Amino acid sequence: MRLILAPLAEFTDAPFRLMCAEGGADMAYTEMVSAAALAHGSSPTRHLLETLPGEAPLGCQLFGGDAADMARATAEIEKIKDRFVELNLNAGCPMPRIIKSGAGARLVEDPKLTYELLVAMKENTSLPVTLKTRLGPHRGDNRIFELADAAKSAGAAGLIVHARYTSQMHGGPLNLETLAEVVERMDIPVVGNGSVKTKADVDAMAKTGVAAVMIGRAALPDPAIFMKLKGVDAPPPWGERHPCLVHLDRILAFRRMLEEKFPDDHVPGEDAFVGIKMHTHLFRYFNGIPGAAKLRKQLNSIRTLAEARAAIAPFVR
Ligand SMILES: Cc1cc2nc3c(=O)[nH]c(=O)nc-3n(C[C@H](O)[C@H](O)[C@H](O)COP(=O)(O)O)c2cc1C
Repeated sequence: MRLILAPLAEFTDAPFRLMCAEGGADMAYTEMVSAAALAHGSSPTRHLLETLPGEAPLGCQLFGGDAADMARATAEIEKIKDRFVELNLNAGCPMPRIIKSGAGARLVEDPKLTYELLVAMKENTSLPVTLKTRLGPHRGDNRIFELADAAKSAGAAGLIVHARYTSQMHGGPLNLETLAEVVERMDIPVVGNGSVKTKADVDAMAKTGVAAVMIGRAALPDPAIFMKLKGVDAPPPWGERHPCLVHLDRILAFRRMLEEKFPDDHVPGEDAFVGIKMHTHLFRYFNGIPGAAKLRKQLNSIRTLAEARAAIAPFVR
């Protein structure tokens, strides 16, 4: 079964995607990128589109609720299309801020607008366009079939379905029966997603007939999860080194690359850059292990790269 790294805002940046590629992911997605910001040329948004050599085939994900912005943003992506194998529309993000702006899971309730956004993308790119969405706003209100029809009519090349409702956010039971029905009705590939952590989870999702399985949160503390789930009995390419240290090196290399490539942009210095990533990303490697609570507290006061290295040293020996 093909295993794909899910788009995770603030997490699936280039260094992490590279970790996952080495850890066996067959494909990955960028974090969701704002179509409005991209259409209007924001530099932090540009940085989200940067890639590193060695990454797995990459999909770019856009979010937005305005067809004109979506068209303009897609035209920007088209200029750098060699980096990507696919352009995806986010129609599933349940964060109130995103829904209020008319994007993300707001689209679950609006197949017509979803169609218009997909058409705006299709008209401005030669990349295959896909939709990532949910089953509906809440249990008892399945919209996935209308959304799938909208995607198909717009010429989408595939569908990614998080087998939950918007009201569930990222928890609660999956509805794999409905996912199986979607697969049965669609003649374009459907990727299944939702709380896949174990081989049994992969098998349960595979039974629905999906073309691939997408994994998000389970990869955060373990970027080698993809090879493990495929039954590869070998150490990851980074060997016995703790993945947090490999990841930290890649974060630093990526920061340097941004600085060199965009000399006129504000790229945070090493200390600030690592500080930000330490709080989100790197801490995930230690979640739940003895001493992690103390480390988390310590991380709040870390201001330099040297302090970060010293704080994690006892955990990575
Ligand atoms: C921190 C976080 C960030 C996310 N960011 C995105 C995003 O940028 N785009 C998107 O389509 N979904 C996003 N999602 C949803 C995931 O892609 C995925 O659908 C969801 O987490 C379920 O898969 P999982 O249980 O394997 O994590 C995010 C989820 C989390 C927890």
